[in-house]
Amino acid sequence: MAAADTTTTVWDTKTQQFHGGQDWKFLNNFIEDFSVTTNCLGTPIKALQAARDAIATCHHYPPANQEPAKSSLAEWIWPEHWESNRERLLLGNGASELIDLVIRSAPTGTWKAGPWDVQYKEYQRSAETNGRDILSPLGKEKANVVCIVNPCNPTGDYKSVEEIKTWILDNVQDNGVVVIDESMQIWVGPHFREDSMTAQTEFLEKTFKERNISIYVIHSWTKIWSCTGLRLGSIVCPTIGHCVELKRIQVPWSVNSPALAFLDEVVRDKEYLEETWRVTPIYRAQLIDRLTNLANGRPWEFFGKPYLSWVWADMKDVETAEKAVELAKQAGVPVRSGKPGYERPTFVRVAVREPEQMDVLLTAWKNL
Ligand SMILES: Cc1ncc(COP(=O)(O)O)c(C=O)c1O
Repeated sequence: MAAADTTTTVWDTKTQQFHGGQDWKFLNNFIEDFSVTTNCLGTPIKALQAARDAIATCHHYPPANQEPAKSSLAEWIWPEHWESNRERLLLGNGASELIDLVIRSAPTGTWKAGPWDVQYKEYQRSAETNGRDILSPLGKEKANVVCIVNPCNPTGDYKSVEEIKTWILDNVQDNGVVVIDESMQIWVGPHFREDSMTAQTEFLEKTFKERNISIYVIHSWTKIWSCTGLRLGSIVCPTIGHCVELKRIQVPWSVNSPALAFLDEVVRDKEYLEETWRVTPIYRAQLIDRLTNLANGRPWEFFGKPYLSWVWADMKDVETAEKAVELAKQAGVPVRSGKPGYERPTFVRVAVREPEQMDVLLTAWKNL
């Protein structure tokens, strides 16, 4: 079987958006992937088994209504009001499918990211391919489509739901569309639901009624539950009518049987999330300590909230950052360069991983 030699041959860079997570397959000495923001605990075991078992049903179509996985996820998002909210929820083949679906279906006009100057690029890629005028994320001009990644990947910034509500009202035109990506918001902790836009049903309704602004909430489930290869995402629409419109243009059966079975099981795994909230901040603090030691007086800066699954590190020097990316790759522990896509060539994004895996990366960097 032919295999590509290096990552550079994986992406059609003129056409596709660069993304981490591609090196692992082409490194003979691969140990661990530090280039994606997946959960350091790895894939939850019971859910993985459910996905494996579902392979045995691959001679059947998956359910066209995405059930019972969709209801299970609805119950997990809104433990108390899931039945009334379920019809506003749609699953997708990764968040990427839903990002494209919602941007494609929005009225034409301007697009803006925010409130931070750099964020996950897939939204902009979709806006550009759909012929939108791209506005500066830090400008004052109101856009008719706005995408907010909160917590922001890669910078690790976070705004409370009240701050986001204010920002939306100030930065979006009437009749506009807002997409809030809360893929990393689960890491906030056990109280994550209280600070999520998914809980703001009244605000969503009111903003739609008074200003005709449609606010959607997207989740990629491939990071918190470490299943990027399975492709699993969801979108919460402002009304059932909006959800019907997305369903109308969605490819049928876009979420396959193993992914649906995985989701149906994983939402029951309370221990996995509790362990995630317990260990991630500990490992992350250790990573920053070790990077600070490695910096040895150099003014490196580390960004992001303490509970997140990655560190956005500014090495303040293009050559050092490039060397860091190269050394990590050579040692079988690839990290994400800040250069392609994010255009931050002095930065690297390093995933939070277990201490033994961190040892390999830090050893590779000892002469950096
Ligand atoms: C913030 C954010 N949203 C969405 C995605 C897309 O995820 P997927 O299509 O794997 O669900 C990613 C992937 O890196 C991401 O970081």
